[in-house]
Formats: sequence, C-alpha cells, structure tokens
Amino acid sequence: MEYLSTADIREKYLRFFEEKGCKRMPSSSLIPDDPSLLLTSAGMVQFKPYFLQQKHLEAPYVGTTTVQKCVRTNDIDIIGTTGRHLSFFEMLGNFSFGDYFKEEMCAWALEFSTEVLGLPVDRLYFTVFFDDDETIEIWKSLGIPEERISRLGEEDNFWRAGPTGPCGPCSELYYDQGPEFGCGNPDCAPGCDCDRYLEYWNLVFTQYDGQEDGTLVELPKKNIDTGMGLERIAAIMQGVQSNYEIDLMRDLLSVGERLAGATYGEDAETDLSLRIIADHSRSVTFMISDGILPSNEGRGYVLRRLLRRAVMKGHLLGIEGPFLGEYVDKVIELMGDVYPEIVENRELTQRVVLSEEERFGSTLRQGQAYLDDALGKLEGDVLAGETAFTLHDTYGFPIEVTEEIADARGITVDLEGFERSMAEQRARARANAKDADKAWSTYGGVMSEIVEETGPTEFVGYTKNDASARVLAIVKDGARVDALAAGEEGRVVLDATPFYAEKGGQVGDIGVLAEDDVLVEVLDTKEPEKGLIAHTVKVSEELPGGRIRVGDTVRAAIDVPRRERIRRNHTATHILHWALRQVLGEHVKQAGSFVAPNRLRFDFTHFEGMTPEQIAEVERLSNQKIMENHAVRAYETSITSAREAGVIALFGEKYGEFVRVLDIEGVSQELCGGTHVSATSEIGFVKITGESSVGANLRRIEAVTSFDALEYMNRVEDELKDTASELKVPLFDVSERTAANLKAMKDLQDKRKNNKEIASGEEMLSILDTALDAGYPLIVANLGTADVGGLRNAWDIVRARLNAPGAAVLAADNNGTPILLAAGTPEAVEAGFDAGAVIKAISPSIKGGGGGKPSMAQAGGKDLSGIDAALDAARSMLVSA
Ligand code: SER
Repeated sequence: MEYLSTADIREKYLRFFEEKGCKRMPSSSLIPDDPSLLLTSAGMVQFKPYFLQQKHLEAPYVGTTTVQKCVRTNDIDIIGTTGRHLSFFEMLGNFSFGDYFKEEMCAWALEFSTEVLGLPVDRLYFTVFFDDDETIEIWKSLGIPEERISRLGEEDNFWRAGPTGPCGPCSELYYDQGPEFGCGNPDCAPGCDCDRYLEYWNLVFTQYDGQEDGTLVELPKKNIDTGMGLERIAAIMQGVQSNYEIDLMRDLLSVGERLAGATYGEDAETDLSLRIIADHSRSVTFMISDGILPSNEGRGYVLRRLLRRAVMKGHLLGIEGPFLGEYVDKVIELMGDVYPEIVENRELTQRVVLSEEERFGSTLRQGQAYLDDALGKLEGDVLAGETAFTLHDTYGFPIEVTEEIADARGITVDLEGFERSMAEQRARARANAKDADKAWSTYGGVMSEIVEETGPTEFVGYTKNDASARVLAIVKDGARVDALAAGEEGRVVLDATPFYAEKGGQVGDIGVLAEDDVLVEVLDTKEPEKGLIAHTVKVSEELPGGRIRVGDTVRAAIDVPRRERIRRNHTATHILHWALRQVLGEHVKQAGSFVAPNRLRFDFTHFEGMTPEQIAEVERLSNQKIMENHAVRAYETSITSAREAGVIALFGEKYGEFVRVLDIEGVSQELCGGTHVSATSEIGFVKITGESSVGANLRRIEAVTSFDALEYMNRVEDELKDTASELKVPLFDVSERTAANLKAMKDLQDKRKNNKEIASGEEMLSILDTALDAGYPLIVANLGTADVGGLRNAWDIVRARLNAPGAAVLAADNNGTPILLAAGTPEAVEAGFDAGAVIKAISPSIKGGGGGKPSMAQAGGKDLSGIDAALDAARSMLVSA
C-alpha cells in the first residue's frame, strides 16, 4: 500500500467519481440552508432538496461528488482524547438522486478501495443493515467471503442527518488495522469500540423521508449518499495511529509545539491540549469564514465554546498572549487552495479571533482563580450551579469548559442548579420588559379565545389605506365587552383592516375608525396572537354619545402621511443592509431593526466599530441606490423557490410554506412582511446619524430619511451657523478656529498653572540659596516657563523672602519667546545696581531688546537658546571677580 498525502486522496476520490459520471461540486457553507440543522455535518446536507426531488441534476451527470467541510460538536468533550474524533473534518462523498444505486455503488466502493487506494481486499470488512439481504448478495457477488460481512442494527447501520428528512439503511466499509490494535476480546468485530476495525466509508441507501412523528415515508426515488472521512482514510494510507498524525494535522500540532516549546508525544496532558487546539483552530477558521461570529446562542455559541476551549488549552500549555492567529494562518496555508473562502476571509477571521481572545483572555485568569478558589473550598464532589453560573455570566466561561476543569479534579457540576440560575436571570430580564408589553401579554387568554372564534384578521394594508370593516370583538381591561363609550379605551378586532400591526421591527399604524356616530382614534396596532390584529383605541369625546359596538361597520383609515414615512424608513433598512454587506462583508447579518415614522435603527453582526470612512461609504452607496430609482415590489412564493432565488432569510428560522419576498430590483431580495415604497427614489435621502455597539459582535446604525433627514441636516447646519457667528468666522472655518481656540485655552491654562507654581514660592526657596554676592544678594535664575507677570510675581517673592536689600535677574520661556526681568531694591540701586543698564547689556544674547528704570527693567527676545548666555553676562557684569 502506497503512502498518499491528504491532498492526493482528496483529488483521487473526486476524479474517480467524476470519471464515473458524477458532477464535481463545491463544498457548501457550514451554515446549512436548513432550519433543522445548526451546522453542516455531512456531505448530503446540501443535497436534501435533490433527494426530495425538489431540485434536479441536469444531464449528463449520474450524480455528484464533493469534499465537504463539516463541523460536529456533539462529542466535543472527547475530542482529542481519542485519535478518531474531530470537531472539523472533511468528508468525501458521492450522491445519486434516483440514478445509480446499490449495485454500482458497492462495486465502485470496492474498486476505489482496492485499485485506487490499494487497500488489500483481505483486510476489508463490510457491515449491512440487519435485514438487507440484497446488499449482502451484492458484496458476495463482488467476491467478498460471507464471514467478512456482518449484519448490524439500527444504531450502526441506519443513517439520519437529524430527526427528520432523507435517511436510510447503510452499509459500511471497515479496514482491519491488525490484532495489535484490538481489544483482544474474542468477539471483537467490526462495530467494536476498539481501534482494530476502522470504519472509513459509509454507503447510505437513502430511501426514506423521516417525518416529525417518526414515521418513514418512501422517497419517490432511491438514492445514494456516501461519506468517507478524509482524515480517517489518510491515517490508514499514511500508516499512522491517529487522525492527528496525518500530514495536515501534524503541521498544526507543530504550531503549538513551537509556541509552547513542547514536543508532541512526550506527555499525555500536553498532547491533549495540542490536539484540541489543532482541531478547534480548523473549526474556528472555517466557521468565521462562513460568516459565523461568536455569540451566546446557536452556532455562534458553538464557535465561542470552541474558541474559548482552545484559548484555555493554550493557557494551560503556558502560551502567553493571543496565539490563535498563528493557527489560523497555518490552516489557511494548508487548506486555502481547496477552500478559497478561508483565504478571502483571512483578515476577518484574524480580527474576530483576536477580539474574542482578548475579551476572554482578560477575564480568564480571574475566572480561573475564582474557580480554583471555589474548588479548593468545596466540601463533597459537586460544584454549585450558582458558581458555574457566575463563571458563565461574569467571566464568560462556557459551562462545558467549567465542567471539563471540574471533571479533571473528579468533581461534577450541578447542571440543574446552573440551569435554574440561568432561568432566573431570564425571568429577571423578562420582568424588566416594558409595561406596555406586559399589558398585552396578560391579554393573551382573551385574545387567543377571540382568534379561535374569528380566525385571523385579513390584512389589506399592502394595497389600501382605508377599508370598510366590521367590528368582531372589543376588549376592555382584559375582558370582552360589547361596546366602548365616548372617552373609553380598549382594543378592537375587525374582520379586515389596513392597519399594520407592529412586527418585524416596523411600528404599528395609527389612524381612525369612523362611521356616522362613531369616531374612534386608533393609538396603536399590535398582533397579540398569530394572525390576529388588535387596534388599541380611544373613543373620541368630540361626538357626544359616540361609541363603538361589536357588529358595527366602520371605515378604518390609517394615518397616511405617517405610514408613508414608515414605508420610506423600512425600505431604507433593506438598502442599508445591502450596503453594509458591500462595505463590511458577507458576515453582516440582520440582528434586529426598528422602523418608526421619524427614524430607523438597524442592528447587525459585526465584530468592531465602523470607521468614519466605512459609515460614509455605506451612506454613499445607499443614496446611490436611492437615486438610481430601483423598482420595489413584494411577491409571495414558496420558501423553496425563495431559497433557490437566493433570497436573504434568517438562517435557522422556521418559515411557513409561503413567504413574502421584498425585491428591490438589482439590490436585494429579503423575506419581509413590512410595508414599503414602490421605487427607491421615494426615500429621498438617507442619513446615518449614529453607529454604536449593542452587545458582543453586534452593532447598531441609526438613520433618518426624507424630510427627517432634511430636518436633521438643517439642525446640524443651524448649530454650525450659530457657532460660526459666535466665533465670527466663515462656516467652514469653525473647526479650524475651534481647534486654535482650544489650543490657546490650554496654553493659558498651562501658563496659569506655571505662574501659580512660581507664585506658590516653593521653588523660590531653592533659588534663594543660590544668591550671589554683588555687594548685596543677587539672584540670577532661569524660571522655566512663565510670562512677564510670572517673572514680576517671582521678583515680589524673592524680595519678600530676602527681607533685605537685594536684586534679581530672571529669565523665562514665554510660550516660545525668551523674556528677561531685572529688578533691585532701592538699597541695591543705591549700591550701583541699574536694572535698565543690565537689560540693555544682556538682551542681545536673546536677540532682543528692552529697558526700563534702574529699579526694574524687562526685555523680550527671539532666541530662546540665548537665555543662559544672557544670565551669564548678567553674572559677570554684576559680580566683581
Ligand atoms: N451521510 C452519511 C454520513 O455522514 C454518508 O455520507 O456518514
């Protein structure tokens, strides 16, 4: 058997099946287009619609072949402890949708195994589903002796991707590594947990569609779905004992060896950490490249767990500081040629990894100390759920990480207590929800009774602003009533309504319900039960005796100008979403929105604050699309065709069979139930007014459109104009002048501070000690920074402290220009001191001039560097040698 590299095996497999007539197709994203699955965990995931005959493969192909990136984390805690489990792996596969079936497949599997890979046939073993005589016969007809074929039950030989969907019995191929790998048990055989018989290929005969109730419905055609773990077959072909020792994985282990200064294979604990980081770093690189960002739920949480577990292991190995980026680079180097998306997303991946490492790294040590302390103090062998919760909530320890650390010390975690603390926290969060929402939720009982009776309300507001409608039910203070009188408030349900109920971020409509003796203000509209639209109303007091009764026919009219503004803002959120994806990348996904008449908010996944340039670019692109006047239309379609058309939906959300698609021609198509403009130019103009963080990897932009944008710009302009007139400068000089003023203010403050220091006199004490003898005490000193006032002040202090005749020659740096001051007491002047003469004599040294009286004189100059020379000159002039 010849050594084959991972790359060779990958290529040989794909080529083999291409030669058999299969179409080579790219791996699909790790984010499955399938709400029943969190992550893509098998090659067949992208082909589910083909098995269900919803999609068809064009001629002349008989099937498809792929190498699929997969993530499986259901057994995350044993990853690394065995040589076989990986969270990320590549699966080689080939698939037939009603074309070739068992006979061809078994023959090809044998041909590939023995002729392409060169596996000795007498080392191969086969399992089949227990009642699948047909497949046994096929293997026998291919020359396999009966004793190497065994029947296994549902657990081993019936394959399902999840609880529902395409599935079927399977036949598996095993490679016998030899008795030295075995457990020695006399009944050791394929299917045994030991390492002797290695399952390397699974051939699934996909014949059924599993239903929610557990029943199996025959698929219209019989299909093939096979999967061969690339790392596993590489281990066989490279004669190594574990997946971690194959060429590709060994290179990743080396990254850890280098960073930690460790050697793989010397110490079991170290090996485990090296393996875990090598494995997890592949999952992390591929997941982020496919647009997953760390978060606290769903696949984002899977990613966060893997990232944090890897960081923890690095910490255990003694690696200092962020290090995962080095692994990311290595993964890209090793696998980028097969998966270009990881090369394209290198920068994104690096940033996300670094930010998560920094976020977690800063609390890791504290969390670990907290946990160590708790474990140290523990009596018994169960760690309290509350402690695990604090670790999760305060220090960001995924519960699995806490469990793993505790487990290493033989301690279990009270998971129920942990869940209880989590539930309490959720309850607290709910209790904080707005009172208004609370009021609605307490109406749940009545509202569900109404919807059962009336059925869903017909919403006519996509095309109409007003409609004639019948009052079906009225609720007041949580109970059903027949009527509301003038001045009373309540909720009204109509058979049909143009009022949009708050949903998908768009606020509810307001307006009126009117008839001859009825005038009712609609203050808000909500959907308390699925399909039921309820209007929050107040009966006007303007019509004495006015009321609204069950059975009345009313004209329901929305506030049209308000709705127009809402429409503009709603369509603008779609355009902004598109522009954000253009500027920041495809990982940007909508995480929430708020669409009101006067403003909008759009929350999205992104891992760092936007730069001013990015914000400007998003705004520019959005306005470009507005000005290009793209047609906007909405249509209903099946969820399947929406997906095929590439419509943006929230992955993992459950949608009904029919969905509404909002198509902004040439810009984007998104599932949306909201109300929109009919052409983008109606939006007028969009202006982003803010960008901020609203959680880990969640950003928010706020914006205004049309007249609100105009008003916003006008307010900004007014503000600027006022400032300009205060500053007495032209409009566009405001910033320059403000900066200059701020600088001047700061200089002044500095100066004041300096002068104050001088004035405080502390420094003067030491200067006094330097007094020279000129027949009277003479101080000659450079005071650093000060203005003329400061120097005079200093002279006053010197004079007071001397408390006797004396003189001083002082110098300072006054904001970049040198200044000098000479001064003397009358006694000193009497004794011959002449301040004016001194200044005159010494000021040329600072390239300046000045003068004054014998008792006081000053000068300013141009050359700061001349201060010392000036003072020296004063000394030699006044102190006789
Ligand atoms: N779907 C099967 C598996 O994942 C064969 O591809 O094992």
